[in-house]
Amino acid sequence: MCGIVGYIGRDRAGSVMVDGLKRLEYRGYDSSGVAVWTEEGIKQTKRTGRVAELEAALGDDLGGTLGISHTRWATHGDVTEANAHPHTSSDGKIALVHNGVIENYVGMKTFLTEKGYTFQSQTDTEALCNLIAYHYAKEPEVAGKNRFLESVRKSLRHVEGTYGIAALCTDCPGELIGARKGSPLILGLGEGENILASDANALTHCTRNVVYLEDNEVVHLTDDDFSITTVSSKSVEAVIHQVDWDTSEAELGDYDHFMQKEIFEQPTSLENGMRGRFSDDGSTAVFGGLNLNSQELRQVDRILFLACGTAWHSCLVAEYLIERFARIPVEVEYASEFRYRNAPLDKNTLVIAISQSGETIDTLGALREAKRKGYRTLAINNSVGSTIARESDGGIYQHAGPEIGVASTKAFTSQIMICAMLALYLGRLRDLSYGDGVAIVKALKKVPAQVEEILKQNEKIATVAKKYASYEDCLFLGRQLMFPIALEGALKLKEISYIHAEGYPAAEMKHGPIALISEDCPSVFLATSGEVFSKSLANAQEVKARKGKVICIASEGCDIPEGLADDTILVPECHEIVQPILMTIPIQLFSYHVALERGCDVDKPRNLAKSVTVE
Ligand code: G6P
Repeated sequence: MCGIVGYIGRDRAGSVMVDGLKRLEYRGYDSSGVAVWTEEGIKQTKRTGRVAELEAALGDDLGGTLGISHTRWATHGDVTEANAHPHTSSDGKIALVHNGVIENYVGMKTFLTEKGYTFQSQTDTEALCNLIAYHYAKEPEVAGKNRFLESVRKSLRHVEGTYGIAALCTDCPGELIGARKGSPLILGLGEGENILASDANALTHCTRNVVYLEDNEVVHLTDDDFSITTVSSKSVEAVIHQVDWDTSEAELGDYDHFMQKEIFEQPTSLENGMRGRFSDDGSTAVFGGLNLNSQELRQVDRILFLACGTAWHSCLVAEYLIERFARIPVEVEYASEFRYRNAPLDKNTLVIAISQSGETIDTLGALREAKRKGYRTLAINNSVGSTIARESDGGIYQHAGPEIGVASTKAFTSQIMICAMLALYLGRLRDLSYGDGVAIVKALKKVPAQVEEILKQNEKIATVAKKYASYEDCLFLGRQLMFPIALEGALKLKEISYIHAEGYPAAEMKHGPIALISEDCPSVFLATSGEVFSKSLANAQEVKARKGKVICIASEGCDIPEGLADDTILVPECHEIVQPILMTIPIQLFSYHVALERGCDVDKPRNLAKSVTVE
C-alpha cells in the first residue's frame, strides 16, 4: 500500500524512480510524485491520478543523482497534489516519502506549529517531515556524527504507528536515508548506485542484490556504500539476498491486463506449486520448510488460519479440506479481528497465516500476536523473502510468480492447491489410507491440464458475462466447499466491476438474501457433483420461481434439469479435493469480462490497493 522508490548514484534518478513507480503502481495509484536534489534546492513534481500523469509532467527531466518518489493510496487527506508525496519541511531542508500511519501526528503538528513550522497538507507524513527538520536544525555539528542521520533517528523515536520512509536533505547531496517499522522497505545494491523500494519489483530493473530491512532499522545510503543501524543507534549486520525470480514475470507481455495474464498463467502457477512436492510412492505431499517433524505435527490438535481478503477465502477452503481429509479441527479468523481479540487457543494449536504478499499489516500483526503467545506459526505465502515469510517459524512458498493485478487470481488458486496438499500431508500422518492418498495425488496432478481446458471456454464465458454486465446486484451461491468459492466470486465481481455482489451458502439464501431476488438480481450457482448437488439444485429452483436469472457453474456430468439455468458453464469432472480450484476459473473469467464490458480498469480498481500495509 503506497509505493516508495529512492535513488542515489548516477545521473538517472528520475528515470529509475518513474520506472520503479510504474512497477509499484498496484500498491496505490491515486497520486504520485518525485523530489530530486539539485544545487538550487529540492525540485518536486507531483500529480494526482496515475504515474503516467507524473511521467508526462516530468517530460525529459528524468536525471538527477539523488531523489525520492512515491505512489499514494490515501489514508490521511483527500487525493490532491498538496497531499501527494514527497512532502517538504517548511524550512525547505528535508523531503520525505512515507508509507504507513503516524498515529500521534496531531500532537507532533501542535508542537511543531508552536515552533514556527507550517503545513501545506492534511497528511500525517508532513508532521514527520517537519519533525526531522526540527531535529536537524537543533542537531549540533559534531565531528564523526552524521547530523542528518541523527535527526532522522531522533524523530523516529517519537513516532507511534508504522512507517516505511525515504528522506533526503538539501545540505547532503550524497546521502539518502530510509527506515521501516511495519511497512516494508528493501535496499537494492547496484554498481555506483543504490536504491530503496517498498517492493523488490521496483528495483530488479537495476539490481538483484537486496537487503530486507527489519522493523526499527534505519539505513544510510551513499552511491557506493550503505550502513544499517537501529532507531536507537545500534549497528546492524546486513544480510544480502539475491532476487532469483524472472523479472519478465512481472511484465504484461502480450496480454491486455495483468488480471487476464494471471488468470491464464494458472496452469503454470499450479504446476509450479506442486513441483517436487510429492513423495516417491505418490501417496502424499512433501514440504521442505515446515520446520516441524511428523511427531510434532501429529500432536497438533487444532489449526487456526489467519488471513485477509481473498487469502481468507483460501483459509475457508483449507478448513473444509483439512477437517475432511486430516480430521483436525480448524478455525478461520480474519487477521484484523484476531489480533485484538482475547481468543482462547489450545496449547497444541498450530497457527497458519496465508498471505500472497506476505506484507499485509493485519496478517503480520496477527502472526506476531500468535508468536508472542508462544504458538508455533507457519506461513503460506507467495512473495519470497516477505516479512511474514521471514517472521513465521516455517512455511510453504506458493511459487505462483509475481501477482500484479489488484484482484487476486492465480495466488488464490495456488493457495488452495497448497492447502489441498497440506490436507493430504496431514491426513496421511493420521488416518488417510495409502489408496486415498494416491487418488488425491493423481487428482492434483491433473489440475493444470483441466484448468487449461476451462480456459478454452474464455469466449463463451465472455458472451455470458456480456449478458449480465448491466445488472447492479448479483448473488453467488454454493454449499460446502463451494461456499468459500461463492464468497470469492462475489468479491471478484464487486472489486473490479463495482456491482453489488454477495456470496452465501445456498441454503442460507432463504434466511434473508432471497428478498433480493427479482428479475434484476441474477444468481450464480456453484454446483458440483456430490452429496449436496440435488439440494443446490433445489435452491436454484427457489430463485427461478421468483423470476431470478440463474447462471449455473457445474461439473460435467451433473444432471441440470432443462430450463433451470439461463446459462451454464461446465468444468471437468474431478476429485472433490480439487473442485474448488476448477470452479474458481469460470468466476474469475466471468468477473473479468463483466468489468471489461462496464469499462472498468480491471487492474486498478477504484479505492483498492494490492498490498495493504496500513491497519
Ligand atoms: C488486498 C488485496 C486482496 C488480497 C488482500 C490480502 O485487499 O486487494 O487481493 O486478498 O489484500 O492480501 P495478502 O497479500 O495478505 O494475501
